[in-house]
Amino acid sequence: MPNTVTLTDNRRGKSYDFNILDGTRGPSVVDISSFYSDTGMFTYDNGYTSTASCNSSITYIDGDKGELRYRGIEIEELAKSKSYLEVCYLLLNDAMPNELQTKEFDLELRHRSFLNEGLAQLFRAFPAGSHPMATLTAATAALSTFHFNHLELCKESEYQRMARRIVAKMPTIAAFAYRQSIGACFIQPDITKSYTENFLYMMRAYPGGKMHIDLDGERVIKEIEIKALDTIFTLHADHEQNASTTSVRNVASTGAHPYVAISAGVSALWGRAHGGANESVIKQLEMIGSVENVDAFIARAKDPDDEFRLMGFGHRVYKNFDPRAKVLKELQVQLQDELKLDSNLMKIARKIEEIALSDEYFVSRKLYPNIDFYSGIILTALQIPTSMFTPVFVIGRTVGWITQWIEFKKGKGMKIARPRQLYLGK
Ligand code: CMC
Repeated sequence: MPNTVTLTDNRRGKSYDFNILDGTRGPSVVDISSFYSDTGMFTYDNGYTSTASCNSSITYIDGDKGELRYRGIEIEELAKSKSYLEVCYLLLNDAMPNELQTKEFDLELRHRSFLNEGLAQLFRAFPAGSHPMATLTAATAALSTFHFNHLELCKESEYQRMARRIVAKMPTIAAFAYRQSIGACFIQPDITKSYTENFLYMMRAYPGGKMHIDLDGERVIKEIEIKALDTIFTLHADHEQNASTTSVRNVASTGAHPYVAISAGVSALWGRAHGGANESVIKQLEMIGSVENVDAFIARAKDPDDEFRLMGFGHRVYKNFDPRAKVLKELQVQLQDELKLDSNLMKIARKIEEIALSDEYFVSRKLYPNIDFYSGIILTALQIPTSMFTPVFVIGRTVGWITQWIEFKKGKGMKIARPRQLYLGK
């Protein structure tokens, strides 16, 4: 049987054959690259619901089964047994690091976590009260001015260095963005601290790097808090060709600087249909206020004339439980006693989940809780302010974006992203 799809243009009575390409996992794709030259027509796919925009060997999602793998390894296994830095190494190098490689990678990232003083000046230009995501977008783009070396843009051997630099600096940029937003002094990274602990430290410390002191003495960053945030970073590390990653690839396709491409990813992530949902979930739970009000909000979510959506529910790809959400749901239970998880918000969330998982509206549309439904309650318990939820997503995702950027740059025959349109104007 030929490995093709035949399409018939009934207006002209002509048929065209297109090759089917098979991946190593998941649905096959129809190669329509000659569609326009063959038929004189374009294809139309609003929101890319049926379009594969590239080939990739980084991350695989089976949305029907609720499966997510980085470099072939299931997310549950990585979240359980590997640190975020090991996951970063895996994504960037397509292999798990050995002990020495892990140490070297960790050390290099600690050394690279500092920001140029000039960049720190830039943060001071933004007004207090500005949303950290806005500052983060600008500061990420500005990083390209401090690391602009034409050779680095063209030489494959430089790509890994560019990648490790941005992964190392993103927690510092995010923490600076937050501290600017509340008018607080900046806390420099502490080279003796691990990647994840350092971020919590830069967020929480007082001038001079001192931690909060209460009647029980100096408050330390607990091991369980570091582990929880590390898991959150791992769960966000990459997610195939989502809106922000596609933005990164589109900018990469023009040959622009990688940090500007990452900045485009940060911008795309901010929207509440994407990474901004984690902030919206907590605001929505707070707005619902008590378990008694849940039914009324569920009714609003189901009303086609009401724009209200249940934040943290639904996903373009997952038509089953988001596997990242499963890990976080378990983590919430583990943390419940040791960290002060907001019991009222937990009760409201559980009630929403219970109703949505059995209600015909959500069941028939396959709307399951996604990662953002569970991350906010944990982040709140880690004393991360709501405005920093999406920046936390950014920190975790930066490695995915830059890995996708490298793959794009190394890809053979990659073209500038240039879609066409169905023109309906004059
Ligand atoms: N609450 C109520 N109804 C919903 C929701 C929701 N959260 N999500 C989808 N629907 C309905 C929608 O109204 C539509 O119904 P109908 O067929 O009657 O018109 C149907 O489900 C299909 O929705 P869609 O908007 O066509 O689906 P999509 O694949 O284009 O959108 C989504 C996916 C994630 C943008 C959407 O589900 C949504 O807005 N969810 C809330 C925001 C959210 O939680 N985003 C985080 C996604 S996970 C983090 C990440 O990876 O970015």
